[in-house]
This record gives sequence, C-alpha cells and structure tokens, in this order.
Amino acid sequence: MENSVPPLTGVDKSTKYSHVQERFAAQIPRPPDSGFQPCAGTGEESEERGRTPELDAEETLRRDMGPLRETTGEDQGLAMNRAERELIGLAIALIDGKRKFTPRERTLQRQGLKPAVKIMMATRNLIKAGEDPLGELFCKARPASLRRDLGATYTPDNIVAAMVGWAKLEAITPTRIVDPGAGSGRFIVDAANAFPKASLVAVEIDPLAALTLRANAAVKGFGNRLTVKVQDYRSIALPVIKGPTLFIGNPPYVRHHDIGTRWKSWFSRNSKAQGFKASKLAGLHIHFFLKTRELGRPGDFGTFITASEWLDVNYGSVLRQMLADGLGGTSLHVINPKARLFPDAMTTGAITCFRVGNRPEQLTVRKVEALSDLAHLSDGESVDWRKLEIAPRWSPFINGHAYDEEGSIELGELFRVHRGQVTGNNSIWIENPAMESMPVRFLYPTVTRARELMAAGGSLSSAKDLRRVLDLPFDLASADLSANERKAVERFLKWAKLNDAQSSYVANHRRSWWSVQLRSPAVILCTYMARRAPAFVLNKAGARHLNIAHGLYPREPMSEGVLSALLAYLHRTVTTAGGRTYAGGLVKFEPKELERLRIPALDRLHEQVAESVDLGRIASGRGYRESQLQA
Ligand SMILES: C[S@@+](CC[C@H](N)C(=O)[O-])C[C@H]1O[C@@H](n2cnc3c(N)ncnc32)[C@H](O)[C@@H]1O
Repeated sequence: MENSVPPLTGVDKSTKYSHVQERFAAQIPRPPDSGFQPCAGTGEESEERGRTPELDAEETLRRDMGPLRETTGEDQGLAMNRAERELIGLAIALIDGKRKFTPRERTLQRQGLKPAVKIMMATRNLIKAGEDPLGELFCKARPASLRRDLGATYTPDNIVAAMVGWAKLEAITPTRIVDPGAGSGRFIVDAANAFPKASLVAVEIDPLAALTLRANAAVKGFGNRLTVKVQDYRSIALPVIKGPTLFIGNPPYVRHHDIGTRWKSWFSRNSKAQGFKASKLAGLHIHFFLKTRELGRPGDFGTFITASEWLDVNYGSVLRQMLADGLGGTSLHVINPKARLFPDAMTTGAITCFRVGNRPEQLTVRKVEALSDLAHLSDGESVDWRKLEIAPRWSPFINGHAYDEEGSIELGELFRVHRGQVTGNNSIWIENPAMESMPVRFLYPTVTRARELMAAGGSLSSAKDLRRVLDLPFDLASADLSANERKAVERFLKWAKLNDAQSSYVANHRRSWWSVQLRSPAVILCTYMARRAPAFVLNKAGARHLNIAHGLYPREPMSEGVLSALLAYLHRTVTTAGGRTYAGGLVKFEPKELERLRIPALDRLHEQVAESVDLGRIASGRGYRESQLQA
C-alpha cells in the first residue's frame, strides 16, 4: 500500500488489517501495568484531589459542544477508557510536535497515556510498512456501541486500493483530495501516495480518530499537505481552488432513526434547494452524498463505498436522482453480500464512481462476486441512463434481470401482499394434544413452516400434511356451540391460561385473546426470508398461513391459467435481488417489496396463457378472488 496500488487478483487481502493487532501485540511487549505513562502535564496529578482528567475533559466538551451523543458524533465517550487513553498517547507521540490541534483534540490530548519508546517505534515501523495499527487499535479500544453510533467501520485495504486505483485511471489529476469521514485515514493515506502533489482535506467528527489520522500522516511524511477538519462533514466549507477535487471515502452508515431532527431538516431543505425530492428516512451516507454534490464543482470526481440498499428503497431515490443529475454517476459496483465486505460489520456494499457535472450516456454496472475481483472499477456492463432514470429499483440492472419497462407492471397492481398471522404463542395455538376434543371446524390446516412451501414444488395441492391452527371465534358467547363443545372450549382455554397464553403482547392486542384471527387463504403463498429466492406456491389446498410466509391476494378474479403463467414467470425471474440482503446472504422481502416486483402486464400474461399447450385445463380454470375466499 505504501508506493502503489497492490495487485488485486488472486489473493483476498481483506483481512490484512485484522492481523495487525496480533502482530502489534507480538512485537510490542505491553504488560498491563507498564509501557504507558501519563503524558507530561496531562493533569493526571489532579486525580489525587478527586478531579479526574476525564471529568475535566467531559466538562470542557459539554461546555464547548452542549449535550451531545447524537449520531452527529459530536461526542463519543467523554470519559475515555484505558485503551483509548493509550491510543491517544501513542498517536500524539507519533505526531510532529508542532502540529496545531483543534480544541476537541486538545481535550483528548490531556487524557493521553504516554507510550514507552519501543511501542512508539514499533508502531511507526508498522505504519511505514503500510499497515494501520492505530486504526486497528481504535477499533479494539472504542466500544462497539460508540463506533456504531458514528458508523465507524474501517475499510479493508483492497477496497481502498481499488477505489484509489480507479481515481488514478481517470483522465484527471486532482489538485485536492477530500476524504469525508476519514477515520484513521486509510483513503487519504493511499490517495496521498497516489497523488503526491495534491492538497489533502480529511473530515472527521471524532477527535480520537482524527488524532490517529494525523499520526498516520506525520509518519508517512505528508502532514504538511493535510488539513484535518474535526467537524461534521455536512457543515464544512471548502475554498474554491483551481483544478479538480477528488472526493473519496467510506461515508458513515447511520440509519435515519439515529439522526436528529436538526440534520433531517437540513437534508430536506438542502435536497429541495438542489431540486431533489428527499425522504426523511435517508441514512447518513445519503446526507454525505448530498453534501458532496453541494461542494462539488464541474470537473471534480469521486468514489464512495456505501451500503447498497439505496439502489432499491424509496429513500434511496434521492441518491439515484443525484447520480443521474449533477453528481454524474459513471459506474456502480455492487458487492455480493456473501463476500462479507467488512469483517466487523453486517453490511452490504456498493462502490459508486462519479464525475461531477459530466455524466456519461451510460452507467457502467457490475456485480462483484468476491473482493478479489474488485479491480478494475471501470469494468462492467453499460446501462443507458434513460432506462435508469425511470426505473424504481436498480438491482435488476446489476443482476442482469433488467426487464423491459414497457409492458411490465408491479405485482402490487394485481395482488395485495399480506404477511401471515402471528399467534403470540405457537405452542398453544398450533395443533397439540390439549386440542384433542376441540370442534374440528375451528382447526384450520395452516402453513406453519417455510420448508412446507419450499417442499411443495410450486403448488400446494393437499393440506393433509399441514399442522392445524386453532382459531376460535372472538365472541364465544354468541358462537353456535353445543354443550359438549362449550365444555371442550372452556377446558382448553383454562389450560391455555395456565400456560399464560393470554398475557403475550399479541394476545393482549387481539379482539379476544383466544381468537388468533387467521387470514383467509391466500391464492399464492410465498416464503420471504431465506438465503435463496422466495418460493412461490399456488395454494390449491386453501391453506392458511402464519407469519413465516406472505400471502398474495388477487385484486380481481384471475383464472388458474393466468395464475400459472404468473407463477412460471416468478419462478423464472425472481432472485434474491429484490429483497433486503443482510451480510451472509440472508434475504428478506417485506410485503411492499414483493408488491414492487416487476411482472408482465395482465394482457401479456393472457397471451402467454393462450400460447400454452394446456388449453383444456385453462378453459376449465377456476376463478379466484380475495372476497370469495374470505372465511
Ligand atoms: C465508515 S467510517 C470510514 C472510516 C475511514 N474512512 C475508512 O474507510 O476506514 C466513517 C467515519 O465517518 C466518521 N463520521 C461519522 N459521522 C460523521 C460526520 N457527520 N461528519 C464527519 N465524519 C463523520 C466516523 O467517525 C467514521 O470515522
């Protein structure tokens, strides 16, 4: 990493940094009680008088910053733990003494523990050898919850190298490089190497991370070219310069729930000012893109790695619009979630490359199966921007299932999709010996396990192997029960109560705690959470379903022929791409996501039916309709 972009083929180097800690520990003797001393003049002596440096620091930060600990990250850990204090001391020891710190860094400086010289030397050597021991230590020292609040997931070096490699292959040489959310500086370090004349701006809200980044820059010898802005990226200004700016980095992934109203309003306001319709559900990474578009000037360029969900969800549309308009998307590389992009975080990845104000006619898209295949970021298939601009989701283009927009509709136009019922306590309500004398008319054959659908092979023709679920009427008093039936029901409910069936959250929120209220049989059932594409099954058996499946209910009556044609289409084309993929490859489809699947319009389905050889079966096809199927 020191002098050039390392070759990316063959060896997967994603774990390089994770070895550093062990190597670091092996090379550096660190008995718990030695190696680090309080930094001179840190105020450590005040501890004896009952005032810890942590308290001093906390007070100062509170005074400077007000109440913090929102995702703005304007405060992370006022009182540092010992490992953090050691890291502060180590970073400061490595930084050229004349460097000017921001007030927040100075506050941390006072908490630092001075390292032994041999530790400092060993760290320096590792940094010179292209490692990031400080970043690695940061990830160990900083409690995971605080890192999560700030979206602090550091990027493996092969990803950094591929992105810097892309910038090097662009026809432009940057005059300035900006790394938003720079962390320990993995991007800025590599980019500084690749572009030895560029000025460098690292923006990092976390003063501890900023110190590690300054230390890396000092050891690498480019501290003089570097400006560190210890502040929120959304609040920075950049001086106008001659020549292009390269924006490069890994914006923090923080979900909207953890973003305060101040920044949500900022996002709405600024999106609107730039002509985009924005959703308040957008995460922090989308805010970073917006800010970049605001800062960028025609001729600037950039590449960011982010989670990939913005490709398909509604709140991602603002980023899709930005790339289409102004930010100038050139290529998009979606990394297969099974590749486990970040060893320490469950996340999916998309690398986006852009040329501000200079969008090509087509966007190059690519699916990257393994991290070792990452280079070159100019590879991929070309997709016309005109198609992308109108598409509600982008992953079909990445997965090579880009449908013909004309003549396609959303599944939701023909079907309502509902998740199955939650019982609140399966051991009570799914068939069990206590139900033995229950009236059979209240026992409904139900799909209670996803594997029952997977095994059905496209059509569930019999309910005989399904378990039954007890669904009693909510108004038992006016239910038509014989004396014996009433006794059986009372006996069962007594047993259920003894087993606490009435006290679950779900039971408490039902009309009557004993009435599960199964949905009517759906015409098509499907699984929605697996490592494979959903299994769509024609529900010929009229089975009910629990919440391990979704049910598709036609809005209008539909012949069995059309249903078969549709099922054949869904089996052929639906992949895991339309759902939300979690790292490790688990895919979940919410009902709304299923409703957004593109399918052929009804007339096309009819055409397919007409072409079908099984005309006789179709002619006698039964019609279904949601209302006809109500229990
Ligand atoms: C995903 S990490 C990337 C770190 C580093 N660039 C890398 O790739 O290894 C995101 C970084 O953004 C920082 N950050 C979070 N919110 C920020 C904000 N509003 N402004 C600037 N930096 C922020 C975090 O502290 C964290 O270091």
